[in-house]
Amino acid sequence: MAAAQRKPRIVLAYSGGLDTTVAIPWLKEQFDADVITLTVDVGQPQDMEEARRRAVAIGAKKALVVDGREVFLREFVWPAFKAGAVYEGVYPLATALSRPLIARCLAEAAQKEGAFAVAHGCTGKGNDQVRIELGIMALAPDVKVIAPAREWGMSREEEVEYLRQRKLPTPPPKTTKYSIDENLWGRSVEAGPLEDPWNEPPEEAYAWTASAAKTPAEPAYLELEFTEGVLASISGETADPIGLVEHLNTLAGRHGVGRIDHLEDRLVGIKSREVYEAPAAVVLHKARAALEAMTLTKEQLRFRDLVAQQYADLVYNGQWFSAHRQDLDAYAGSLMQYVSGTVRVRLHRGNATVVGRKSPHALYSYQLATYDKADTFDHKASGGFIQVYGLPIKTQNRRKRAGRSP
Ligand code: ARG
Repeated sequence: MAAAQRKPRIVLAYSGGLDTTVAIPWLKEQFDADVITLTVDVGQPQDMEEARRRAVAIGAKKALVVDGREVFLREFVWPAFKAGAVYEGVYPLATALSRPLIARCLAEAAQKEGAFAVAHGCTGKGNDQVRIELGIMALAPDVKVIAPAREWGMSREEEVEYLRQRKLPTPPPKTTKYSIDENLWGRSVEAGPLEDPWNEPPEEAYAWTASAAKTPAEPAYLELEFTEGVLASISGETADPIGLVEHLNTLAGRHGVGRIDHLEDRLVGIKSREVYEAPAAVVLHKARAALEAMTLTKEQLRFRDLVAQQYADLVYNGQWFSAHRQDLDAYAGSLMQYVSGTVRVRLHRGNATVVGRKSPHALYSYQLATYDKADTFDHKASGGFIQVYGLPIKTQNRRKRAGRSP
């Protein structure tokens, strides 16, 4: 008797939520395939064992779990951070940075498991579908991508019914009106009452940050030490990157720092109301920028702004695996050679304020800046400088007065 033919395999990015849970039986039926789930731990508050059990209980052939936390920080968060990438000036890109990592894990798992396809639970209206699929196109172009939630057109109720009809366990009912995505670098909240941009975000939308009224009356001071643009210690305490970021999220969140309320431009052309909590990211971007202001020239700072915006847009738009990103990394890496030192930050009532900075690479010179007798600046030289610098404006206005220019 011929050996039973192995079924085709699909690797599904599994969050443990309803959509990806329903995707397991749906994919099995549509493609007569085995489904292998993959859950990537990027620091979301989720019991990974529970996710594994649920996937298998619902019919996954195998449930893979990858601890991606350190790689996430080292290979995705820090490069974007060094480039100063903050989308539309406010969003530190927590969700956006995790998607290329998830795509890479999917591509690797598909190869290892000999899967013909990968699948994800993203809807057709968001950015995440683009980020994951561009990642697969870059890393595993021969692997098919399936997006069940974009195809089946089921409501939440219909999804639960779908599981019931098949006598499959249904996940615990939704306890929040929001759509939430979390990782080490931040928390994003969408939908529910936030869909009316006029509504102030209800307190219940927040989980990582205290409301200003409930923060400690006394400010807290932190000393953030950076080595070439990367956080090395907090007030003298060192830890692995995960420990440092978690610690800073707690410290700053307690003081209500890191709340962001943004009307954002999605890649698919929709403006959407997004609420974020990113205490560590907000504090770190501020602190790094303060150190840059001290150690970089005016020209470097101006150009850095352009790079930061390019970088933020490409991360947001799913272009992580691009040559452009590599080029910008090279620039940011070169720039960060100067960005070592310590920044003093005060946390108080929802604000993080830089109150001090020092660096071995400081371009700030006390002797040049001071107004007291240590002053070494050549005051007289400014007279000649102004004569030359002002020449064009003098010439132009002379012509104007004579009625010879518009
Ligand atoms: N708008 C953000 C982004 O596109 C976050 C989306 C995360 N999803 C969520 N359900 N909150 O990066």
